[in-house]
Amino acid sequence: MTDRFSKMQQQFLCCYPVNKMSWSSVKLPMEWDEQKALIAATCGHQLNERYPVRTSYQEAFIKRLMQLLKDHEELHDDLFSSLCIQKDNNHGKDYAYKHYLLLQPDAHITLRESISFVNEGTTGLCTWEAALALADYLLQHSDVVKGKNIVELGAGTGLIGILLKLPALGLDAGQILLTDGSASCVQLMRENVTLNFPTAPKEAKPQCEQLRWDEVKDFPWHQYAKTDLLLAADVIYDDSQFDALIGALDHLYTSRGNCLEMLLASTVRNVDTLHKFMEQLTVHEYKVTPCANVSACASHFCRDHTAAVQIISIKR
Ligand SMILES: C[S@@+](CC[C@H](N)C(=O)[O-])C[C@H]1O[C@@H](n2cnc3c(N)ncnc32)[C@H](O)[C@@H]1O
Repeated sequence: MTDRFSKMQQQFLCCYPVNKMSWSSVKLPMEWDEQKALIAATCGHQLNERYPVRTSYQEAFIKRLMQLLKDHEELHDDLFSSLCIQKDNNHGKDYAYKHYLLLQPDAHITLRESISFVNEGTTGLCTWEAALALADYLLQHSDVVKGKNIVELGAGTGLIGILLKLPALGLDAGQILLTDGSASCVQLMRENVTLNFPTAPKEAKPQCEQLRWDEVKDFPWHQYAKTDLLLAADVIYDDSQFDALIGALDHLYTSRGNCLEMLLASTVRNVDTLHKFMEQLTVHEYKVTPCANVSACASHFCRDHTAAVQIISIKR
């Protein structure tokens, strides 16, 4: 694969929107060996062959490429065969894979995710922009996680916890406990942890448990290391859950003698909803500090940036 297609490869493997891909790296006319190289870097990539991304996404990618090439040159056979082969993959299924490639250092995370935003009564079976932004932030501020025992609330597919334990990244985090209120998310998270750490011992990978925010007091916390850092991404969208979420934050914060660090990442979809949550935090006497400008952070992940993401630190 030529470096020329490394960005497109990264985008393809995590199903970055086809219309926003780096098509400018495709120089026309495109020789046959170049067409072959691009297909090998994307549809033909070994990760995609083993764990295929969504069929409809692959179709859209190849059709867009064919459209781009059609007036300029003959199309390589591999384009047609990719279009045919991938029809057998995950057509009509609810789940497909995404591969999040980190270019420096060379590492990747493979996640099985739902094809729909809402499935099995939860929004957590696919990875959201706020989780990618928080992952980026933690990669750039590794001192925040180094040596820390971390709990994530509403962890969805498990991306952040898996990232924190990837040996290639050397983030050196302590015990990671990923939690979610949805049993389907916990099952998927466990599957994703196994996919990324097939042979690792228990202490070298994240643990996953079901935890509903309104049941935080009943959780067997004594079985886990004392939490130093609490993380949550895209959990502030449903105001009917605000009391439960703040109750969970309160319980964990006070049980750690008010010295727990808490970082929440949120996509700014509805300003009023976020504002309402911030007001409730103030009522509970929390001080909210916005973290360094997140949109200005260099991104290791392919992020859409259509909606702003804010990361806040909460303390009393
Ligand atoms: C929008 S998803 C975000 C998932 C993941 N953090 C991400 O950003 O990709 C919200 C998550 O919060 C979980 N959740 C919502 N209400 C919850 C509650 N009351 N207790 C525990 N988890 C809850 C959902 O199951 C879902 O996984």
